[in-house]
Amino acid sequence: MKLLITGFNGFVAGSIIAQAKGKWEIHGVGRSEGPGDEGGLIYHNLDLLDTPGLTALFNTIKPDAVIHTAAMANIDSCQNNQQQAEKVNIGITQTISSLCKEHDAKLVFCSTDSVFDGTKGDYKETDTPRAVNFYAETKISGEQLVLAASTKNVVARLGLVMGLPVMGQGNSFLADTIDKLKKGVQIPFPINETRTPIDVITLGSALIELAGNDFGGIIHLGGNTKIRRYDMALQIANTLGFPTDLILSTDSNSMPERATRANDASMDNSLAKKILNTPMLSLSDGLNLTLNFKK
Ligand SMILES: NC(=O)c1ccc[n+]([C@@H]2O[C@H](COP(=O)([O-])OP(=O)(O)OC[C@H]3O[C@@H](n4cnc5c(N)ncnc54)[C@H](OP(=O)(O)O)[C@@H]3O)[C@@H](O)[C@H]2O)c1
Repeated sequence: MKLLITGFNGFVAGSIIAQAKGKWEIHGVGRSEGPGDEGGLIYHNLDLLDTPGLTALFNTIKPDAVIHTAAMANIDSCQNNQQQAEKVNIGITQTISSLCKEHDAKLVFCSTDSVFDGTKGDYKETDTPRAVNFYAETKISGEQLVLAASTKNVVARLGLVMGLPVMGQGNSFLADTIDKLKKGVQIPFPINETRTPIDVITLGSALIELAGNDFGGIIHLGGNTKIRRYDMALQIANTLGFPTDLILSTDSNSMPERATRANDASMDNSLAKKILNTPMLSLSDGLNLTLNFKK
């Protein structure tokens, strides 16, 4: 069975690739030169905005499943570069949805808890999304395209992803936080944002399962701990033995130059617990797993 993973050099993709090796023939697509082909992993260098190139890639690989992680994932970049965000987060998702349909491949799309407006919390899959920033708008549009293309497709709404990069770099706030704490730098964390963080190892395993099982539709992939981002940072600093006075509290919605954030975007993970073999973890168990993971 062939699995195509977009966003090869990203944070989430690294965990998927490391854990899918040996179980699937893995094709990773990214924009850098990449590692070349190595044991069970075939790397393709392609800008996903190159539609003819992407079409040719699908014709060559003929994937059985695709996990689409590639995105403009930075909320403020999306707000400030809306045309590019639309092209990447909606346009590429549309192309990939069509190609998956043509090749009868199952598509697992990485969406976000940010699709919710954050006024309620404990969001279930049946709750209606409402965007408070442009990133969320693009992800809601992406979700609709993916779900309309096939009933076997999956929209996986990811909670805040916590962990160390397994391969490459990508967007890991934990790695960045540890670097700063080691240097004694104070770091502000939002006290107004409540989340259900998921560790990147559990997330990778859940996404691989979803690529290979019979589930189709929306699923929330968040951890068992509902926590404010400020309190999460305190817990991380404490666990790792750094002084907690380096963690400062801030209100992310009091900075006019930044895009609006959802206050309480916590998600209910009951469905994930019911249908997946991958257990959803508490913040402390997830932190432990990601800190000790060996690829
Ligand atoms: N991290 C989180 O906390 C979080 C939470 C909720 C949802 N998500 C979603 O989960 C997914 C993965 O997030 P992540 O944290 O792994 O993000 P990431 O580390 O920023 O990785 C995203 C990847 O997408 C690639 N990409 C962007 N535009 C591309 C293009 N035109 N062609 C080819 N590749 C392109 C980037 O490639 P380059 O390296 O070449 O730039 C990057 O490697 C995203 O869809 C994000 O919206 C993430």
